[in-house]
Amino acid sequence: MSGKNATETVWADDAGIARAARIVRGGGIVAVPTETVYGLAARADDAAAVAKIYHAKGRPGVNPLIVHVDTLHQAETLAHFSDAAKALAARYWPGPLTLVLPLLGGAPVTAAVSAGLPTIAVRMPAHAAMRALIRESGCPLAAPSANRSNAVSPTSAAHVAATLDGRIDLILDAGPCEKGVESTIVAVRHDGTIDVLRPGPITIEATAGQDAASAVGGRLEAPGQMASHYSPGKPVRLNADSAQADEYLIGFGHIAGHDNLSASADLEEAAGALYAALHRAGDSGFAKIAVAPVPHTGVGIAINDRLRRAAA
Ligand code: TXA
Ligand code: MG
Repeated sequence: MSGKNATETVWADDAGIARAARIVRGGGIVAVPTETVYGLAARADDAAAVAKIYHAKGRPGVNPLIVHVDTLHQAETLAHFSDAAKALAARYWPGPLTLVLPLLGGAPVTAAVSAGLPTIAVRMPAHAAMRALIRESGCPLAAPSANRSNAVSPTSAAHVAATLDGRIDLILDAGPCEKGVESTIVAVRHDGTIDVLRPGPITIEATAGQDAASAVGGRLEAPGQMASHYSPGKPVRLNADSAQADEYLIGFGHIAGHDNLSASADLEEAAGALYAALHRAGDSGFAKIAVAPVPHTGVGIAINDRLRRAAA
């Protein structure tokens, strides 16, 4: 680890990925872009490397990590795939969907990855840089979002450096993340029903008797889904149609603001812009943040979930 020295950022070209993979193979931790947010990656089978992730983030040990794979075969060495799980993987992978499945005995992951749960969260990301890093590292990679615990998630290399500079071994830069909010997390039950544990870019209907919003609001099954999260470090007021004098207004649609998530009220564009706007609002000279209303449909459900936690 680089101690108090600055962490180097390198472009995620072949040379950058080769260098990152060498670090990961040797038990280090590197930030890497995915299509959702930047992740902080380590070998999932290396207890000391995974411990570095928890330490760098200041993350409580009870909050398990998502394991990222390059192939379905690799995923099947980690978790039991029921027919329902296979169908979800076939439809949405590679992409922003994380499956919480029964952990296989003897799976090549260190215990801290799943924080002692009988399940494991698995995802096959769509970003070429992350896929290449997994391939060249030669094993599944545990990777939470690359931010200090409870801070706003990173959608650029600069956001990563803002909270993890000097605490991690390397940052791979591939520009802004396309989706902008973290993957949808679903738990697939033994009977084939699914619960949505975290809303995200993929809108899936829960079949276990709850819709996405109530499943997330009503339970804390994904241990990271605490009420307060994604904190920009100042008070946040939601559903604002104008700014008070001391507020930085994040607009949407016709509500212009100091920032606008999407002037054309496009929810995908708004998701992509969300965390950068929260970072700018946090860095601004304004004491408080206000956010315009965002429609509660499609990825708007995920945007509102993150905003509610930022305001909590
Ligand atoms: O898009 C994403 O999912 C990003 C990128 C880097 O892949 N990762 C991400 O990781 O958002 P993180 O650690 O910030 O959020 C992972 C969430 C946490 O809320 C954690 O509690 C939950 O997944 N989780 C992990 N393993 C779980 C399990 N076995 N059961 C239930 N929830 C789990
Ligand atoms: Mg996170």
